[in-house]
Amino acid sequence: MAIDDIPRTIWWEDGKVVLVDQSRLPLVGDLLVCNTYEGVCHAIRGMAVRGAPALGVAAALGVALWATTAGEEIDDVDAFLGELDRVADEIAGTRPTAVNLAWGATRMKRFARDNAGVSVPELRELIVAEALAIRAEDEERNRAIGANGAALLEGGSRVLTHCNAGSLATAYFGTALGVIFSAHEQGKIEGVWVDETRPLLQGARLTAWELKLAGVPFKLITDSTAASIMRAGLVDAVIVGADRIAGNGDVANKIGTYGLAVLCEEHGIPFYVAAPTSTVDLTLASGDDIVIEQRDEREVTGVTVSGVISPDSPSSTRAFDLLTDGGPYEVPIAKGHQMVIDRKGGAYRFDGWFRIAPPGVEVYNPAFDVTPAAYVSAIITECGVVRAPFGESLALNCQGSGAIHELG
Ligand code: MRU
Repeated sequence: MAIDDIPRTIWWEDGKVVLVDQSRLPLVGDLLVCNTYEGVCHAIRGMAVRGAPALGVAAALGVALWATTAGEEIDDVDAFLGELDRVADEIAGTRPTAVNLAWGATRMKRFARDNAGVSVPELRELIVAEALAIRAEDEERNRAIGANGAALLEGGSRVLTHCNAGSLATAYFGTALGVIFSAHEQGKIEGVWVDETRPLLQGARLTAWELKLAGVPFKLITDSTAASIMRAGLVDAVIVGADRIAGNGDVANKIGTYGLAVLCEEHGIPFYVAAPTSTVDLTLASGDDIVIEQRDEREVTGVTVSGVISPDSPSSTRAFDLLTDGGPYEVPIAKGHQMVIDRKGGAYRFDGWFRIAPPGVEVYNPAFDVTPAAYVSAIITECGVVRAPFGESLALNCQGSGAIHELG
């Protein structure tokens, strides 16, 4: 159990994009191998890869994957660039809120145009190298965010975090969790409160897993527990990541973040946002302009579970073999619950969705909310710590960082 044990998220291997499927973690830890950029889009939509900085890396690697697969059939530079733009835009459109996705895609488009003087085969190689550079830079940025943020924490800190802004949400190390990992290495963390983060439970599944691997002490809480532990004086700081930060410092992050920020204000607790400059969108004057992703009602009306079945006798093995002989087996369950059993390697896996709410209820399920800048004590980027008033100081902090407004 040490910080070196935290997982890597997404990488390039033998000309393919490989990623840890986060939709079933931590109980099922599959690797997904994407052979096409469409596969990367599918992984993003299905939340196999998620978290703003990881999405930026996925966009860059997705463009590189296209350039070295389907794009290999195009010899003409202009046709190649035109098609690359289309592919990059398609990837950027898979989820609307995290600006890093558009940032990664835009940086690849810009890079391809800036290097269009070479032959198409050479350009392809350069494009792969650029995508790998984006991945490596993300880790460097997170380490710097970690160091900058840890300096804000006192010894014996009890920190609350929401969602997963850890290694899994980035190429490696994490943003909000990066601050916690760095502070833990400095002996400053007494404990972490981990919000479970309804409805997809990124806190319970992913943050809890990462902190456990890293050996950082923590307690998992329901989202609605935060208020009472703040009132009881058990929280010294809240640190969250961000999906998009507008020019005035308004912050879009996982739904529930705004409520935490208001609670911090009420209880005199600092509310910190840790994010790379690639999350800052100076093209937006305020958070009112941030598009909030709306998600499937089934995330709220039921729970998704996955696991591995280990038959305990030759006869039960035979039974599962028979069930899955013709491919995935859909278990007939009443009342709208669903369960599919499938073979996976030498074992059997189940994926289930179990209904909680009665059929036919109306659901409102935004994935993110916007925290007004007035509630944000500081924004921690790889370039330093920015405090209110944010407008000019945020712009200065991002100067020369290659944030989205600089890519054009
Ligand atoms: O819907 P998700 O899981 O992609 O949402 C992730 C978050 O809201 C994170 O807090 C944010 O992307 C920052 S990750 C470093």
